[in-house]
Amino acid sequence: MNAKIAGIGFYVPERIVTNEELTEVMDTTSEWIVERTGIEERRYAEKHKDTTSTMAAEAAKIAIERAGLTAEDIDFIVFATLSPDYYFPGSGVLLQRHLGIKNIGCLDIRTQCTGFIYGISVADQYIKSGMYKNILVVGAELHSAGLDFSTRGRNVTVIFGDGAGAAVLQATEEDKGILTTNLHADGEFAEHLAYFNPGTHGGVFLGDKSDLTYEGEPEFGGMHLTQEMMDKGDIFPHMNGRYVFKHACEKFPAAIKEACEATGHTPDDINMLIPHQANLRISQMIQLGLGIEDERVYNNIQKYGNTTAASIPIALCEAWEKGLIKDGDLVCLAAFGSGFTWGAALIRW
Ligand code: COA
Repeated sequence: MNAKIAGIGFYVPERIVTNEELTEVMDTTSEWIVERTGIEERRYAEKHKDTTSTMAAEAAKIAIERAGLTAEDIDFIVFATLSPDYYFPGSGVLLQRHLGIKNIGCLDIRTQCTGFIYGISVADQYIKSGMYKNILVVGAELHSAGLDFSTRGRNVTVIFGDGAGAAVLQATEEDKGILTTNLHADGEFAEHLAYFNPGTHGGVFLGDKSDLTYEGEPEFGGMHLTQEMMDKGDIFPHMNGRYVFKHACEKFPAAIKEACEATGHTPDDINMLIPHQANLRISQMIQLGLGIEDERVYNNIQKYGNTTAASIPIALCEAWEKGLIKDGDLVCLAAFGSGFTWGAALIRW
């Protein structure tokens, strides 16, 4: 059995937040953001309307319908997010409830920007083993609820946006679908792109402290936030941008080449590359390094910012909706992100 993508969908909140709007709350400029990241605007969820799992449900309904299925046909849910509705339980069960499904298993994945690649890799194995026939794989993020909107957080905040993307992976005997996936991680770099609190680290900080944006150790609040943490800004995501940039530029191409080699292809054979939308400059570096022309790569970070686990399914779906992916095309998905984690997938569409 092969696992093909039988249906795909995405959802982004209506509210568009331009770079100009961010300049009203922090010391930044639209020129700085566009020049360094390519981002012009992003979407922010509406309070009391969108949550991570409700956005996922909107994307999932479209994917299920396009697969010609109903929610009852789904055998298993894989949900990738770093911004879950609750600390626990994971958002997978909430999505299951929104879709009105009962009993099926739900697996939550915590590999950040690489979450969707890990998700389809897991689904591919379950389908190949014959365990499940229709698996819903979702990536969804609601970043805007957890960002630092003061100048202190500008290096991170300007990059991220909200949204969700979903795909139904389906068993098929046809000669198409997922050809290969590769998954990688290196925990050595865990603290270079991380959200420490709330957490159980107890102030034990094993990473490189030299790049922390705030003074001193992360506070120990256990699973509780303290006033001191809030005062220090220790309740926001931390990113060593330059470090992330450098590693992303190495790992993305390595994963893409590995996927090509595993299936007897070269980057020249790829009809459409969908890189995780981390930063337009990173995508351009990958493209340049692999000799992939503009027509064979799809970027939409300009409109949505970096939506982490949601970025690949959103971009894949948008490219497909625009008719840029056709039956028989070789599609490559690739990601790099917090962990560090990285990986790639090759799909015969
Ligand atoms: N607006 C204006 N200035 C900003 C800013 C913003 N939004 N964010 C940071 N700066 C300032 C810094 O304070 C610093 O000022 P200083 O020189 O006076 O200290 C200066 O810009 C350069 O900061 P630096 O962090 O070194 O910038 P950079 O050139 O590395 O660009 C990123 C920052 C975040 C755009 C870049 O590192 C990057 O894209 N990294 C990868 C991030 C990524 O892809 N993350 C997602 C991974 S999945």
